[in-house]
Amino acid sequence: MTVRALRLGVNVDHVATVRNARGGVHPDPVRAALMAAAAGADGITAHLREDRRHISDTDIARLMNELKIPLNLEMAATEEMLAIALRHKPHAACIVPEKRQERTTEGGLDVAGARKSLEPYVRKLVDAGIRVSMFIEADVAQLDAAKQIGAPVVELHTGSYCEVPPGPEREHQLKRLQAAATHAEMIGLECHAGHGLGYDTVGPIAAIQTLAELNIGHFLVGEAIFIGFDAAIRSMRAAMDLARGARTRRAAKA
Ligand code: PXP
Repeated sequence: MTVRALRLGVNVDHVATVRNARGGVHPDPVRAALMAAAAGADGITAHLREDRRHISDTDIARLMNELKIPLNLEMAATEEMLAIALRHKPHAACIVPEKRQERTTEGGLDVAGARKSLEPYVRKLVDAGIRVSMFIEADVAQLDAAKQIGAPVVELHTGSYCEVPPGPEREHQLKRLQAAATHAEMIGLECHAGHGLGYDTVGPIAAIQTLAELNIGHFLVGEAIFIGFDAAIRSMRAAMDLARGARTRRAAKA
């Protein structure tokens, strides 16, 4: 079996959450991002929320200036965020829901229900050369809608899989994710996954060969308290490679 490369995007939002708890400059999410790159992250993800509850505008500007690996800007589909994305032109932009009415029942963006309003945002970002993904549930209707409005990438929401204990429900959620990743490939979408992944949940997801990227944040920032950020990222990378069936990342990329 050919083993396909699986990228790790490290989300640094919650480094900023800790910083903002005291309102100062420590810990610095940009320093964390540079450390993540050195530990083997393939990209950095940061969510500039409308309420700026963690990542700030200055963080995004500094990430754009200082990072040597791709930045994936998570953003709501709003005029304000579109203008920021077009100004900075990050490698990628992942459109995520921020308000309850933008979500499906399980939490991904309701692309099928909001095609008309989302399509112009996708088009403007794509036209600017930004790789656009839509953060959606593992649902055929959502995948098809993402394809129809011109997004080249989808990110599958793994929350429903991660948030249940091991057992039949988790297996059911895993099957949904596997089927969605297969459907994404069939209709020509690059497929990513993320939300809530940790050491005990990442394996079966990393083993889905049609996934190209996992985005992981909260667990890594939490684990950093105990073993350090560098070690947490390296352990996650090793768990992903093991599950993927790759002896080394280099082998996976060959
Ligand atoms: N992918 C997307 C689109 C996200 O919004 C987030 C943050 O919620 C993540 C991945 C990372 O999730 P977590 O911090 O739970 O690992």
